[in-house]
Amino acid sequence: MLNVALLGAGRIGQVHAQSMTAGGHCTVVAVADVNAEAAQALAARIGAEARSVEAIIADPAIDAVLIATSTDTHSDLITRATAAGKAVLCEKPVDLSLDRALATLAAAEATGRPVMIGFNRRFDPNFAALKAAFDAGEIGDGELLSITSFDPAPPPVDYVKVSGGLFRDMMIHDFDMACWIFGGAPARVTAHGSSLVDPAIGDAGDVDTAAVTMVWEDGRIAVIKNSRRAGYGYDQRLELLGSQGLLSAANVLENTVQKITTAGAVSAKPLHFFLERYMRAYEIEWAAFLKGVTEGTAMPVTLREGVAALACAEAATRSLAQGTTVAITPDMLG
Ligand SMILES: NC(=O)c1ccc[n+]([C@@H]2O[C@H](COP(=O)([O-])OP(=O)(O)OC[C@H]3O[C@@H](n4cnc5c(N)ncnc54)[C@H](O)[C@@H]3O)[C@@H](O)[C@H]2O)c1
Repeated sequence: MLNVALLGAGRIGQVHAQSMTAGGHCTVVAVADVNAEAAQALAARIGAEARSVEAIIADPAIDAVLIATSTDTHSDLITRATAAGKAVLCEKPVDLSLDRALATLAAAEATGRPVMIGFNRRFDPNFAALKAAFDAGEIGDGELLSITSFDPAPPPVDYVKVSGGLFRDMMIHDFDMACWIFGGAPARVTAHGSSLVDPAIGDAGDVDTAAVTMVWEDGRIAVIKNSRRAGYGYDQRLELLGSQGLLSAANVLENTVQKITTAGAVSAKPLHFFLERYMRAYEIEWAAFLKGVTEGTAMPVTLREGVAALACAEAATRSLAQGTTVAITPDMLG
């Protein structure tokens, strides 16, 4: 059985702790956080020890770490953990800087240790079923992918200021989704963005409403729509048009009850946010990581793919700033 440790006892770290301790497929030895109280509280809750990051990385008995710390620590922790021989599951994004992410990719690949990036949406049963049907050829060749991804409400402006911007923080999931479904990376990216939801987000130099077009070398197109506000819940939908049909994945609703009267038809709202919508995806993600490490098979989401999503975010950021289409060049993908 693998011995594992959790780095980061914040919001998403606590979610991962649930999957890590369920099922008895690994032993969670330790939890680390610069906030010692948070580490101790979570460690006590799951029957692990609170230790420093340094002590965890130096412990040869720990086989794998899950990195759920703040984004600006990811590159450093991936590099140190893989150098110490550990397998890594790291939350998205790899980094806010593409250059640093590329350096991390080179360093981690040189160690030969497996690294997976936490693009949890790939493990959502609905999106996974859409991808499986597409890969099985059920709608022929993919031509036009449309991704809708709206949060229920914007985050605090203090979060926005350090987030790296909507493209690196939020749309990064959708960039990965498009690259995963179509394969590889687009040839070029065009972004439009506005601050319509909260003027403070605009004042902080970010956008809260955006549309991005990604075009693959052979002409396939993906369109991503993001908003930081959809008052009715977390709106997460996919639509993929192929040469022989259409695949679509609708929102998961709070319940399946539909009321139909002479006034019309009413159903429940979409599940509120990512904790509600993707809890099952986080569990499947962790199980997929453990399986890959235990069986020595390829990671289902690679560090290289994490860098590709960041390259798309970088291109979108530049496109918005320059008002032009930006090419994704091979040097951006490592
Ligand atoms: N995949 C998803 O759905 C998803 C959802 C939320 C957050 N995330 C990502 O997870 C990461 C954490 O986000 P969060 O919302 O949990 O943030 P958070 O602020 O709630 O938690 C981060 C934790 O990391 C700790 N930390 C910071 N630097 C550290 C260091 N050097 N060593 C040890 N601990 C350190 C902080 O004290 C904090 O407890 C971010 O990169 C974010 O993008 C992913």
